[in-house]
Amino acid sequence: MIIRSTAFIKSATHPGNYPEASLPEVAFAGRSNVGKSTLINTLVNRRGLVRTSSTPGRTQLLNFFDINGEFSLVDLPGYGFAKVPLAVKKDWGPMVRTYLERREQLKGVVVLFDIRRVPREEDLDLLDWLEEFEVPTIPVITKVDKISRNRRAAQVKPILEATGLPLEAFSFFSALSKEGREDIWERIEDALEL
Ligand code: GTP
Ligand code: MG
Repeated sequence: MIIRSTAFIKSATHPGNYPEASLPEVAFAGRSNVGKSTLINTLVNRRGLVRTSSTPGRTQLLNFFDINGEFSLVDLPGYGFAKVPLAVKKDWGPMVRTYLERREQLKGVVVLFDIRRVPREEDLDLLDWLEEFEVPTIPVITKVDKISRNRRAAQVKPILEATGLPLEAFSFFSALSKEGREDIWERIEDALEL
């Protein structure tokens, strides 16, 4: 993928304020702090396009970005962080579910799993919604630099068990080494039908 331009379009919470353009779209979802915003920045080679933070819960809205005037990437708010205000937590489910159900130009969702963590209820809910609304899913195991390569297979076992997905379904990613960047782009391009 050659990135010629990137631009923040807008933030939104509900269908009434989603951007109107009908360009194809791929969204990024996963637990707070899993690295969604970092993955988007790495994909588009722009360190500061999406704000990242070591404090979980940084992204609390749907954030839409235009790439090359050709398609959009959407940073979805993370879930599962205890310190996020209750009001925000309550909104997460309906906000994300409605987006997945109603956004017609949505072509796929990249779902991130931290290689060090066992998936929890919200992760599995998310996978269920994607199946329910027939949105193609691109599962990614991220922060793989945190685990040595020879421990990888053992480390991902709980993720495979919890999600019921086979190993081959996952791309592996590290923002440090950029491992997986090309592979994930290929899958996104396929989903976008570019
Ligand atoms: P929310 O917006 O809170 O939902 O978080 P997020 O999923 O957007 O996470 P974000 O991209 O802000 O990253 C969270 C932290 O993880 C930051 O400190 C990143 O630098 C770090 N991080 C993200 N990806 C990687 C990775 O592949 N390897 C390592 N070592 N750290 C990473
Ligand atoms: Mg974020």
